[in-house]
Amino acid sequence: MAEIVLENVVKNFGKVRALRGVTVEVKDGEFLVLLGPTGAGKTTTLRIVSGLEEPDEGKVYIDGQLMNGVAPRDRNCAFVFQNYILYPHMTVYDNLAFPLRSKLWRVEEDEIRRRIERVARVLKIEHLLRRKPDKLSGGEQQRVALGRAMVRNPRVFLMDEPLSNLDAKLREEMRVELKSLQKNLQATFFFVTHDHVEAMTLGDRVVVLNQGSVMQVGAPEVVYSRPANLFVARFVGTPEINLIPAEVMGETLRCKTMGTTWKLSEIPFFQEVRNIPSRVFMGIRPEDILLGQGDKFGEVYLVEDLGVDKVIRVKTDHTILRVRASQEAQFAVGERVPYLFRTEKLIFFDPVTEKLLG
Ligand SMILES: Nc1ncnc2c1ncn2[C@@H]1O[C@H](COP(=O)(O)OP(=O)(O)O)[C@@H](O)[C@H]1O
Ligand SMILES: [Mg+2]
Repeated sequence: MAEIVLENVVKNFGKVRALRGVTVEVKDGEFLVLLGPTGAGKTTTLRIVSGLEEPDEGKVYIDGQLMNGVAPRDRNCAFVFQNYILYPHMTVYDNLAFPLRSKLWRVEEDEIRRRIERVARVLKIEHLLRRKPDKLSGGEQQRVALGRAMVRNPRVFLMDEPLSNLDAKLREEMRVELKSLQKNLQATFFFVTHDHVEAMTLGDRVVVLNQGSVMQVGAPEVVYSRPANLFVARFVGTPEINLIPAEVMGETLRCKTMGTTWKLSEIPFFQEVRNIPSRVFMGIRPEDILLGQGDKFGEVYLVEDLGVDKVIRVKTDHTILRVRASQEAQFAVGERVPYLFRTEKLIFFDPVTEKLLG
């Protein structure tokens, strides 16, 4: 069991500013997901925790102990990479035993067997122990790679996009397994992904990283419903949030590009929040626009059938709204359709600072 703390960590690679003062706390036993696009600095962050890189500035603590300058092998972190490599000439059993047989750990063979049996049971790979890696599916190989991390009983699991090489169905299964694994082990997981769905389903909390800076830390539902800024709003959620430029004029909110006006009294945000700039970005998630009701109209532009539900694009003047509708919704391209914004769900951003208002 262990907590991880990064305090104001800065890392440059020549002119590249990979991390610009990152502060993150992973609580003991927490599943923390670090989410961000390629190049955000996610791998660098994990490598600094593991000791494979040293920060230029800032501090790293594991379990309250300062880790700067401590060798990777003395940090007791298990690192699971995106491209895990199993030794092809060894059986699964020997692959699992390998880290324990190293001079570093010197674990007795009896103890090794006990640990492998336990881990194999948890990961449901008991029947695979005698096979060689080339006789395993991708998902099985991935579980063995996880097992190799687990046999060491690490204090901390560091996982760098471990599911991204799996096909969609397997990825879904592994998500469920990882989550229950973490619950059973009560271990601290620091998990990196660029996939917001993975982040939302796995994380107790999510840290959104962009260009080496933390954009937001919060529970998945908070990051989704109250994104700290425009970047987070756009990065999290599919289809993407609708962001519409709007202007406060007297007692109304005017959206020129949509050709519509709302009364401020209709929008809870304006009753609750003071000091609102006159220009804002209005944000609304696709599921918070209702089609077939309301007194504003648009034209159906595109219908995407996703199986479970539909994404319907509705053109209103110069804006195309993304709307999530149920499977039963029947709208034809070109049709004039009324729409209703769930005004209690509207969020607003300052167009200058790009930050969430209120
Ligand atoms: N060893 C390195 N040498 C030079 N630049 C690097 C090195 N490692 C990472 N970078 C750069 O640092 C930035 C962050 O990289 P990385 O942490 O790998 O991002 P992520 O894992 O989020 O995709 C990128 O711009 C990347 O090109
Ligand atoms: Mg990476």
